[in-house]
Amino acid sequence: MRNALFTDEFFAGLESSVREVNAAETLPPICYTSPEFFAFEKEAIFYREWLCVGREAWVRKPGDYFTTAHAGEPLVILRDGEGVVKAFSPVCRHRAALVAEGHGNARSFQCPYHHWTYGLDGHLIGAPAMERACDFDRRRVRLHEFRLETWLGFIFVNFDPAAAPLAPRLGAVTKALENYDIATADERAEPSELRAEPWNWKVRYENSNDGYHANRLHAGPVHDCCPSSLATFPELPADTAGYFRYNGTTHADCSFNPTLKAILPIFPRLTIEDRSRFIFLCVPPSLTFSARCDVMNFNIFHVDGPEQISSRRGYLVAPGAMKDPLFEEKLGLNVGTSAIINQQDRMIDRLVQTGLRSKFAVRGRYSWQEESQRELNLWLVQRYRAAWERMRG
Ligand code: FES
Ligand SMILES: [Fe+2]
Repeated sequence: MRNALFTDEFFAGLESSVREVNAAETLPPICYTSPEFFAFEKEAIFYREWLCVGREAWVRKPGDYFTTAHAGEPLVILRDGEGVVKAFSPVCRHRAALVAEGHGNARSFQCPYHHWTYGLDGHLIGAPAMERACDFDRRRVRLHEFRLETWLGFIFVNFDPAAAPLAPRLGAVTKALENYDIATADERAEPSELRAEPWNWKVRYENSNDGYHANRLHAGPVHDCCPSSLATFPELPADTAGYFRYNGTTHADCSFNPTLKAILPIFPRLTIEDRSRFIFLCVPPSLTFSARCDVMNFNIFHVDGPEQISSRRGYLVAPGAMKDPLFEEKLGLNVGTSAIINQQDRMIDRLVQTGLRSKFAVRGRYSWQEESQRELNLWLVQRYRAAWERMRG
């Protein structure tokens, strides 16, 4: 059965997932469970696309660094001595131990195994007892460096040195977020903990991307102020690298806390229209984002395996909001209210992943409220198709 995956028929069958939403069907369940399909996705997507790794705010000063991984590839992100943010593989050029873990500030990275030491520019600056090694020029040894771009303070890396730049394809989403003026927003200066999640990355992504479930799974006094019926899906350029939908709210200045009204300061440049809707935004395959009038929440996903991801959450608030002595208490009310919603989402991700493993799982159909899923399918299927063409030669 497995070999049926990599056939012209299988890839031709994916076309039904990119029809207009009322005629489209979901991707085959095997795309969410198969180790072989995940290996294919690494080639089709994760080794070629821009992957979000974190925020520039996490590396504010020279020497600040944090580590992460995508598709099993360890990464260290740092700000070098000249103030430039860079991404390296922390895999030691001696015998492959990782030279950095966690986050912090460093003037250099010394490998814990045999003490080879690398500067913030990735060059090997020290290697004990290597003077007898033939043809070994320390100056030619360097940690592998990856392409890096930033967008609205988000750091993206790409394993493909020939990848097309990301920012020119994010014009539509940048415009949608313009009034939030993210460059001036307050945020934490360090990464949150990575949280392991035992499901396929698309299960998580599609859940974040799904307005259809908003007042079904999350039915109740909180989420009902952002009903599924008020979702709209703006037309986006064909080559867009990011997607968004607006979701109207039942009252202005709505937010997720026990008052259902903003209790943190409202982003100062928002219009009345902005204050009457939420924005849900994604940059596949690793960033999703929601914007309300007083808090923006982001999620960064890292794929670890066919049914394993890890994620980091973070938030942005209006300039000066964190100076309020009661900020943590007010944020806590938002976090506490959202925690119930997040728990429901995690419960459903688990149920979906279990269902997708069933031999009785089928390709389903979409509601008009799931246009975002079909947009993700468009993004995916063109990349699957291109990778299949390359594989066939
Ligand atoms: S593995 Fe890093 S110094 Fe030996
Ligand atoms: Fe949800």
